[in-house]
Amino acid sequence: MFLIKMSKEWKYILYERDENVATITLNRPKALNALNTALLAELRAALEEAEADVEVRAIVITGAGEKAFCAGADIVELLEKSSIEASEWSRWVQAITTDMEKMRKPIIAKINGFCLGGGLEFAMACDFRIASEKAIFGQPEINLAIIPGSGGTQRLTRLIGKTKAMEMLMCGEHINAEEAFRLTLVNKVVPPDKLDGEVNELIKKLLSKSPVTLGIIKDAVNRGIEMNLEHALYYEAECFGSALATEDAREGLKAFLEKRKYEFKGK
Ligand code: CAA
Repeated sequence: MFLIKMSKEWKYILYERDENVATITLNRPKALNALNTALLAELRAALEEAEADVEVRAIVITGAGEKAFCAGADIVELLEKSSIEASEWSRWVQAITTDMEKMRKPIIAKINGFCLGGGLEFAMACDFRIASEKAIFGQPEINLAIIPGSGGTQRLTRLIGKTKAMEMLMCGEHINAEEAFRLTLVNKVVPPDKLDGEVNELIKKLLSKSPVTLGIIKDAVNRGIEMNLEHALYYEAECFGSALATEDAREGLKAFLEKRKYEFKGK
């Protein structure tokens, strides 16, 4: 098979495109991949690059080194911010996470270690979270007498419910990967040496589907969850119409009736 492998150099992230998959690695391992402003700006640019690249059909976000996916916002930087600067920074970071949800391509968080504070907030903005058994999760901001500022109070509550979200946010304790799975914070937990394989299996499944229809599902779920049921169902019907009008849907429906394997073109 003809392999297209591209990589681009940034200071705080690694960006690699291998055929249809872009992998973005948060790359400040000495600071446990903490999110400083420069890293966040590069992450945003890398996400934009992956979104614009028509060859990219799935995006993986992970952390460099053995120890961390990401230990949260850079605490050194936070100490320097005034109240107004902190609110502006929070809105800017929130916009990056919201854009991740608006992107039509599936995004997978490959969680190899500590996934704390802003790290968990970024993971929660992804569509899938696959974790190593070694991963540790938490919203420890309360221990710094601050609160999450990248969507944590909202996305955690939506993902795991108010009871456990309140406990994680107010007690600030770490939970292990098994507990994160029990809370449905992550899709799957695997031994560290199986993490790459598990993510690759998921990517294989996603690449076998119609990319345009995957995008429609992502949009319907992420927009619909913020609407009341009546409006969300109306929106679903609109999305259903869009999906049915695609060439891939014609192909999928015909292939079923003709008892053959489908061949999607992403149109
Ligand atoms: N910001 C900046 N530096 C960080 C960091 C962070 N969030 N987390 C870790 N580091 C740095 C440490 O200061 C340390 O640097 P030095 O070697 O220069 O001393 C290095 O990374 C390694 O960390 P530790 O020595 O602390 O490693 P450990 O194994 O003993 O502990 C840990 C690991 C439990 C993850 C611990 O580092 C920790 O608790 N980190 C902070 C986690 C946290 O509170 N995150 C929330 C940040 S606020 C936030 O994210 C707000 C938001 O929502 C936007």
